[in-house]
Amino acid sequence: MKKISVLLLLLSLGLGLAAAPRYNIVPTPKSLTPAEGQFVLSPKTDLVVEDAAFTEIAEDFRSQIVLSTGYSLSGNGERIVLRKVQGLGKEAYRLDVAPGGVVIQASEVNGAFYGLQTLLQLLPEKVYSPVRVKGVKWAAPACHIEDEPAFWYRGLLFDSGRFFFPKEEVMKFIDLMAIYKQNMFHWHLTEDQGWRIQIDKYPRLTEVGAWRKETAWHSGIGNGIPHGGYYTKEDIREVVEYARKRCVTVIPEVEIPGHSTAAIAAYPELSCFPERKYEVETRWGIWKNLYAPTATTFRFLEDVFTELFELFPSPYYHIGGDEAPKDVYKESKYCQDLMKVLGIESEEELQTFFVKRMGDFLRKHGKTVIGWDEILDGGALEDPIAMSYRGHAPAVKGIKRGIRVILTPNRWCYLDNQQEDQPDSVAQEIFMPLKKVYNYYPAVDSLAALSKEFIVGYETCLWTEYIWDNDKAESQAFPRNVAAAEVGWTARPNKDWKSFRERMPKVLGTLDQKKVNYSRAYYNVIFDYDRNLPFPKPMNLELDFPYGEIRYTLDGSTPTRKSPVYDGKPFQVDKGSVIKARGFEGGKPIGQVVTKRF
Ligand code: ACM
Repeated sequence: MKKISVLLLLLSLGLGLAAAPRYNIVPTPKSLTPAEGQFVLSPKTDLVVEDAAFTEIAEDFRSQIVLSTGYSLSGNGERIVLRKVQGLGKEAYRLDVAPGGVVIQASEVNGAFYGLQTLLQLLPEKVYSPVRVKGVKWAAPACHIEDEPAFWYRGLLFDSGRFFFPKEEVMKFIDLMAIYKQNMFHWHLTEDQGWRIQIDKYPRLTEVGAWRKETAWHSGIGNGIPHGGYYTKEDIREVVEYARKRCVTVIPEVEIPGHSTAAIAAYPELSCFPERKYEVETRWGIWKNLYAPTATTFRFLEDVFTELFELFPSPYYHIGGDEAPKDVYKESKYCQDLMKVLGIESEEELQTFFVKRMGDFLRKHGKTVIGWDEILDGGALEDPIAMSYRGHAPAVKGIKRGIRVILTPNRWCYLDNQQEDQPDSVAQEIFMPLKKVYNYYPAVDSLAALSKEFIVGYETCLWTEYIWDNDKAESQAFPRNVAAAEVGWTARPNKDWKSFRERMPKVLGTLDQKKVNYSRAYYNVIFDYDRNLPFPKPMNLELDFPYGEIRYTLDGSTPTRKSPVYDGKPFQVDKGSVIKARGFEGGKPIGQVVTKRF
């Protein structure tokens, strides 16, 4: 009997059968020791909080359990104990699940919170239901877990500048981040196309800067529909507090000196040419309006940041710094004169002067400055953190100079890239399916030792040029951002695509409970081939869903359960080929028919 159950345990660990994994945790913990048996929640379960520091997170956990199971966790039976211990890292925890009870140990709130998240994930995904669910056995498989993240910075950028999203959607994203142990919400709040934060001293920022006449796509032709919106201070406080309760830091980004057209439209005196007429931009791209490096601008920005200090307790503030062509600095007599006074020769150095001036101000107020990788060009900021978005070369440059970097290379990290192998008329062109996001690792292998010290994290970016509503935001971000959460948390030896794809059905089940409009690309066939090779070229078919098979046709007909099964070997395709493919599970179609014409 005992032998059989050990065999079943091994099989369910993935050593043979295509069964759902017994321990279905995302991100994969640092170490997990399986054990036999399970802990079952019941009306008799008791939640014991041994240290008042953990009361708030424990009560939030209890609220979720009450919602879905109806159990109040105040019985006199088996206990879930939250214990404060010495010596664990800020985000580390130990979790023991046994038939007789659960113990979570942590030194700080963050660790205890993550222990509770892991416990929730060990339970059936209906535990995330917003309403009571009956008839479920609330069992968590027994185990011992010791866990802590590979990187302390695990971020998601949310671009409210290009499109305004209601605060409820922002909080939904923060909630999902927290479930998967991401901890930095990078809120892109100012853009050429909109200024999104109420600033009392400068009301025109939101009266004028938060609204645009219309939106124009690639073609430059507008849709005629006005767009806008902004967050009041009350909204921001609510979001920041919501995030705090989930151990998520909200990092505001105010772009300088570029991406500032909306602010300049509201206050033209911030520009190099105040007499010119400015409007909040309706088209995407890189625009030439920059803040002028004047006393007026510096006073303005210091006032803005001073109001933000009241709203965002984050020790990190993002000041942008990217994509600022210097045409207006070249054209402006004031800027040219200032360069002479400062003894600098290039307009690039003028940007460095500008950024340093604001960086010093933020530093004086106890903030660490984060900027896009252009901040490395001048090299004048004191102890900044650079976000390497133009590939890895900027990261290498920063690391060699002893500057901390966060990796956000656009080909692996930008969630506005395509995930469906079908042309989408309104999206970025880079193909970035789930597997590509998952298989990324934030390191520069040629600088392995320095990498460990100076690469502090990793961030995915939800830029919203082509994401105009909640549904699209969710389908672009999920489930890829869950893969990203594992990239940031799970160190290399434990990171495993095969295991991740087996854990995905439960992730998607959880996203269902959370009413997330996630992409179904996981169930669709992906055409894996080299776009640059000449015809005829080898073609691989892939299906992320691991429990099915691929059936396909080459004659233009729709694949059925009788069509040939793809055997995993590459085949040649020629110009003019039409391939139609679909996944099947147990003879039933899953996902959609995907068609590729060459
Ligand atoms: C960026 O993509 N311009 C940060």
